[in-house]
Amino acid sequence: MKPSSKSNFIVCLACLYLSQLLQIFMKFLFPVFLILTSFSGLAQDSDLPNDFLSKDFHKDRREQLRAALPQNSVAVFFANPVRNRANDVDFVYHQDPDFYYLTGYKEPDAVLFIFKDKLAAANGTSYDEILFVQPRNALREMWTGRRLGEKGTKDLLGFEQAFNNSEFKRYNVDFSKFDKVLFYDFKNDVRDNPKDSSDMYDLIAQFKVKVKYPEKKNISLSVEPPKNNLDMNGLNELMAKLRGIKTKDEIDLIRNAVSISCLGQIEVMKAIKPGMSEREIQGIHEFVYKKYQAEDLGYPSIVGAGHNGCILHYTDNYKPSVSSKELILMDLGAEFHGYTADITRTIPVNGKFSPEQKQIYELVLKAQEEAMKIAKPGTLRQALTDTCRAVVNRGLIQLGIIKKDEKHLYFPHGVCHHIGLDVHDKGGASLEENNTVTIEPGIYIPDNAACDKKWWGIAVRIEDDYLITKNGYEHLSKIAPRTVKEIEDMMKQPSVFDNFDLPNLKTVNEKSKSGN
Ligand code: GLY
Ligand code: MN
Ligand code: MN
Repeated sequence: MKPSSKSNFIVCLACLYLSQLLQIFMKFLFPVFLILTSFSGLAQDSDLPNDFLSKDFHKDRREQLRAALPQNSVAVFFANPVRNRANDVDFVYHQDPDFYYLTGYKEPDAVLFIFKDKLAAANGTSYDEILFVQPRNALREMWTGRRLGEKGTKDLLGFEQAFNNSEFKRYNVDFSKFDKVLFYDFKNDVRDNPKDSSDMYDLIAQFKVKVKYPEKKNISLSVEPPKNNLDMNGLNELMAKLRGIKTKDEIDLIRNAVSISCLGQIEVMKAIKPGMSEREIQGIHEFVYKKYQAEDLGYPSIVGAGHNGCILHYTDNYKPSVSSKELILMDLGAEFHGYTADITRTIPVNGKFSPEQKQIYELVLKAQEEAMKIAKPGTLRQALTDTCRAVVNRGLIQLGIIKKDEKHLYFPHGVCHHIGLDVHDKGGASLEENNTVTIEPGIYIPDNAACDKKWWGIAVRIEDDYLITKNGYEHLSKIAPRTVKEIEDMMKQPSVFDNFDLPNLKTVNEKSKSGN
């Protein structure tokens, strides 16, 4: 080999080597580089709404909880786990409401500690709260979305002590020194992701070791459980006291959720026609929610025509064609920035209540009106149910539907619960200023009920949302028509959906099969 050809050969070899390096870079490292650069920041401002609860709100909630904790105690909260829907598809993630309330953190695989008193930190400072969060991960973030990570949790949520969850295993606090370690007992329904050694399953397992959690299978019924400082009951009451009383910021969000849900009801009142499917009617409500940026539903939508309305939590919504003679019961709630409404309207599909439908409807309305008269601080929620029951029972006897007080036969549920981050939110048994609650009487007469068959298949629920004020209440959902006249008048109005016509699916399929 001549010197020149030798040097050519070396150049060629170097080129080959470089090109291979370049190929490796393009194939494996460049995507990572791209992800790291494009995902290194958090979402740009224009990617996110700017009216979420502030970090100061969550910090204040933690301070309130700390003040209420018993002496020498620590409260521990776990994020909700990711739930699998089927195969490699998970359900859309929803944070545990307590966890969200106290942190603002919307990701899984996290654990929060709130200490009554300060602890010494390794660097000589002290702290009274600490949050372990899932780490940033460029590849995972490309698949499943942005993460705050340790830094984002510090910067955006205001935690001074935030660490990657892989650090939790090494978190070295002697839990035996507390008088109480408060947490919710585990339901043992969290799956392990074998590829992640600090997912919820592992964090819970590591916590159990740290606090010497007595696994139930080890406790023989004849033997007293070992004495320990673990309190799995106290947290619920503490959180109910806090979460039941809404702050101004929470009320603003609930007001949005309620107004959006009312607008859904109004639009359906205008748009509904005999022959629509329950699903299509559900879709109009939910389209309105999305139009107003409600990110979720507070609970699965209930849209039941005729006797389907007798199923209290009917969520099949399968009926392909609602009939002109039926009532349709629609119980839906938009969830706006975590907070949910819970509103039910029952309307005649053809726009006019029949005499029997009207009699039942007005009885339910009367029950609700009577309960509203006593809705104020100090009233027991149960008293609202008792009031509605008395009205309904009297009315049903007068209509000849029941003979005497046949308790709960056609009205088997309570009428008042708190709403907030949960649709059945935490809160006290007695109403207090700044509670947000429902009043929701109903009458449900199934087919073949022991009464004249003219009543069969009539199901009515009227559910409204209220803010309890100093001397009474503010009716948050009052813009959704409620009386017979208001509903019938609204149903005469035109809707933006009147001309919303899509092609027939069979025709589309035929076309696609024929290739035209
Ligand atoms: N939507 C459930 C309830 O009314 O409580
Ligand atoms: Mn309700
Ligand atoms: Mn409801």
